[in-house]
Amino acid sequence: MKRIITFGTFDVLHVGHIRILQRAKALGDHLTVGVSTDALNFSKKSKMTVYPEDQRLEIIRSICWVDDVFLEHSLELKGEYIKQFDADVLVMGDDWVGRFDEFKTLCDVVYLPRTEGISTTMTLEEIRQSA
Ligand code: CTP
Repeated sequence: MKRIITFGTFDVLHVGHIRILQRAKALGDHLTVGVSTDALNFSKKSKMTVYPEDQRLEIIRSICWVDDVFLEHSLELKGEYIKQFDADVLVMGDDWVGRFDEFKTLCDVVYLPRTEGISTTMTLEEIRQSA
C-alpha cells in the first residue's frame, strides 16, 4: 500500500483544496492530511482562521479522498509526522516548491500545481467587498 501525506490549513474550503486532495490521493492508496492548528496557521500566515481547528479537521475528515487526519502543531515536526504515518510520498502545493526537499531522504516529495484563480484569502476578500 502506497501511503501519501499532505498538509494545509484548509480554512473556508474551496475547489483548490478539493482538487489537491483528489490529486494527492491519486498518487497512492491511502491519504493522511495534517491540518494546521489555529496557532500554527497564525504563525505561518499572521491571520486567524475563520473556522477553528476542530471544525477544519472534521470537514477534511469527511472528504471521500481522505483516509486519516491529524492536527499539525509545528512545521518543525514534518519529518516526525512523515515517519509516524509511514508516508511514502509527501505532497505539497507548488507554493511550497523546494521548501521540503530535505525530506527526500525519508520519502518522495511531490509539489503539485495549485488551482489557479482561487484561494481562501481571495474568497474572504470577495465576501468582504460584497458585504
Ligand atoms: N491549494 C491549491 N490550490 C489553491 C489553493 C490551495 O492547490 N488555489 C493547496 C495548497 O497548495 C495547499 C493546500 O491546498 O497544499 C492547503 O492550502 P491552504 O494554505 O490551506 O489554502 P489557501 O487557499 O492557499 O489559503 P490562504 O489564502 O489563506 O493562504
